[in-house]
Amino acid sequence: MKRVDDFRLKFGKKKLVPIMIGGMGVDISTVELALVVAKLGGVGHISDAMVPTISDRRFKTHFVKEKQKKYKYNFANKDKSVVQFDLGQLAEATKLHVGQAMEAKRGEGMIFINCMEKLTMNSPKETLRVRLASAMDAGIDGITLSAGLHLGSLAMVQDHPRFHDVKFGIIVSSLRALQLFLRKNARLNRLPDYVVVEGPLAGGHLGFGLDWAKYDLKTIVNEVLQYFAQEGLHIPVIPAGGIFTGTDAVAFLEDGAAAVQVATRFTVTEECGLPAKVQQEYFKANEDEIEVNETSPTGYPMRMLKNSPSIGAGIQPNCEAYGYLLDANGHCSYIDAYNRELAKHPDGKNISVKDKTCLCTHMRNFDCWTCGHYTYRLKDTTHQLADGSYQILSAEHVFHDYQYSVDHQIALPA
Ligand SMILES: Cc1cc2nc3c(=O)[nH]c(=O)nc-3n(C[C@H](O)[C@H](O)[C@H](O)COP(=O)(O)O)c2cc1C
Repeated sequence: MKRVDDFRLKFGKKKLVPIMIGGMGVDISTVELALVVAKLGGVGHISDAMVPTISDRRFKTHFVKEKQKKYKYNFANKDKSVVQFDLGQLAEATKLHVGQAMEAKRGEGMIFINCMEKLTMNSPKETLRVRLASAMDAGIDGITLSAGLHLGSLAMVQDHPRFHDVKFGIIVSSLRALQLFLRKNARLNRLPDYVVVEGPLAGGHLGFGLDWAKYDLKTIVNEVLQYFAQEGLHIPVIPAGGIFTGTDAVAFLEDGAAAVQVATRFTVTEECGLPAKVQQEYFKANEDEIEVNETSPTGYPMRMLKNSPSIGAGIQPNCEAYGYLLDANGHCSYIDAYNRELAKHPDGKNISVKDKTCLCTHMRNFDCWTCGHYTYRLKDTTHQLADGSYQILSAEHVFHDYQYSVDHQIALPA
């Protein structure tokens, strides 16, 4: 019976344990988590979502405060188009975040960064270019392009000296999206180094509609593998979403996948950025307490715990401080939803916005509890303690469980 450890993910001469931990913004997939994974020979991800905020927390910079101060006068204004990111500060924050990870990295594994196109930041092209280039400057091993089609992202950094050295991958949820990406980037003479195929059971935003349950990861992965075989393309294919045991992973690896991307099982590790209290909510969740809803202003459905404090909250939009989801015209659908409710309650009290959420603020505060479909199985991966809480795991333990387990067994911690 095969184990994940019988396979290797190959990038040129590099041979890695074929386990990639997916990016989880905002600082849920921390540098600490990525460092453990790299040390164990796999691929860890950090995320550049809300990186000035992360930098303030970790490096005592004051990017958020400075932005908030600069645009304070606009707080009550519905029009947020004046609220712009300082590109120099964005570059600095990215370099601090990535630089810290790369300097501390030990072992044979790699550290990639997850870059979501949907973080349009009121200036989509300029901010994305700075995010990509700064991560490359700071020595990142690879960049995973996510939450968007990324038709122009590679071209933005084609003149960067590390363009052919950094590994680039894209997350897709259909063969069609992948073909579009390949077609648009054909003239760059640079194929992606890997493709993550994310199915409907993943955490975070989904590349499916509310009919996600009709789709299945295996089918999409096979379509992509067949297409690559037909075209003679040798690009590693990495399935993601609902791969809960080493045995689940082996099934994909035996079918021709190069590695697997996993995340949910790492949300309850010491190295994960989620506060301990929130991790207990993930452990406790039952299947019927998890939903896919449309409260994210990005327009993508998102999976989360039904008791997430973000759902139904009615906070004032905080774009002067954050504003990561403002589109090219300074617009975010939460602002409309909030103002609609404010019109009904002009005193500003008791506002509850049910259809949309202020994702920046709630992700920043770990109040939007996004999770994978199998979060309800996390309780089976550990011990319940005398006080009713669940024992937190180490990332090394979970990584090794994926790497060595057979027969769908899940090793409990000591
Ligand atoms: C808490 C959480 C946050 C996530 N955030 C992101 C994100 O910011 N960007 C992204 O591309 N994917 C995100 N994902 C998706 C994961 O990177 C990964 O592809 C997927 O969840 C793998 O499936 P699994 O969780 O069933 O193992 C997130 C997943 C979780 C569980």
